[in-house]
Amino acid sequence: MMPLSRTQLGLFFILLCPANIIGLWWAVGSPLVMDPNSICRKTKRLAGKQAELCQTEPEIVSEVVKGAKMAVRECQYQFRSRRWNCTSHNKYFGKILQQDIRETAFVYAITAAGVIHTVTQACSMGELMQCGCEVTRNWAPPSPQANGRGAEGSAWEWGGCGDDVEYGYEKSRQFMDAKRKKGKSDIRTLIDLHNNEAGRMAVKNYMRTECKCHGLSGSCTLQTCWKKMPHFREVGDRLLERFNGAFKVMGGNDGKTIIPVGHNIKPPDKLDLIYSADSPDFCQANRKTGSPGTRGRVCNSTGLDVGGCDLLCCGRGYREETVVVEESCLCRFHWCCVVNCNKCTVKKELSICL
Ligand SMILES: *[C@@H]1O[C@H](CO)[C@@H](O)[C@H](O)[C@H]1NC(C)=O
Ligand SMILES: *[C@@H]1O[C@H](CO)[C@@H](O)[C@H](O)[C@H]1NC(C)=O
Repeated sequence: MMPLSRTQLGLFFILLCPANIIGLWWAVGSPLVMDPNSICRKTKRLAGKQAELCQTEPEIVSEVVKGAKMAVRECQYQFRSRRWNCTSHNKYFGKILQQDIRETAFVYAITAAGVIHTVTQACSMGELMQCGCEVTRNWAPPSPQANGRGAEGSAWEWGGCGDDVEYGYEKSRQFMDAKRKKGKSDIRTLIDLHNNEAGRMAVKNYMRTECKCHGLSGSCTLQTCWKKMPHFREVGDRLLERFNGAFKVMGGNDGKTIIPVGHNIKPPDKLDLIYSADSPDFCQANRKTGSPGTRGRVCNSTGLDVGGCDLLCCGRGYREETVVVEESCLCRFHWCCVVNCNKCTVKKELSICL
């Protein structure tokens, strides 16, 4: 057999991997795989819903990949100063997704959230034939308190372009929850599906209502309102909170239920992230657990929190290094509207984990 290039390997993963998310993450960043045609040309091997989506709606698959890409960026932002920093382009990454630790839960959730978000956004922007703005004709009128400044006596109606989150939700489900190999409805699958749903809920459950006043000189005799998704940064923030409060669970005897482990007062709800195995400490590089280690990471020598050298370097200590970086400086604002800056080189002290 011929050795596979990285890109081919990406395709290979996306098509054959039981947990499709691994393929998605692997593929992110490879320009060829971003092209849905190249994904979909080889769908003969895909089964069920994914193959169907690929053949009938390749543009959706393209949005799915964009959603995964956005999820990677958000994951890296949220974990930027943690020991595991969500770096996806290294040999350790796949291992994280094959476990069932908190980090796995976060990755599944943020990816499913990225997909619902991107697909829904594409609908609202009119980029897809099969969907558009939300149909609100038969809705009850919005409540006057909708955005905190309900003008008494003004009329309300739904209008504008609401985000059709139900459509994005369906597509995210079809793609992310696609059946694994037959008969493998094990506890890990249940956990992954739960975390996918928690990710989608972090979008769908936090829709906000936006309104706009109409009428003579801002008299607001009529308001038009529509539903918008939360910004994706908010989604990431919320999922990080759920990550911090994630529930440890185990499988029940029937193989179909999930039981919380330990002394949790309440069982996890739909919005909670769940996991079944404890995370490694991510201090040392370890291929088996998918830990790249923290050696060489930039840390904060005065910080005591995550990102502080004590925690990030796992007590091994750090060294100071002076680096020279180029920055914009002496910026001047010219009416109107140009900003001219000089380039300056500045020296920066960095602390780096040993
Ligand atoms: C994340 O960690 C890896 C290795 O541990 C490092 O190479 C990379 O630069 C880090 N990324 C960020 C954004 O700090
Ligand atoms: C380092 O930590 C201190 C204390 O928490 C904080 O005030 C400072 O902004 C941090 N520096 C950087 C570069 O993050």
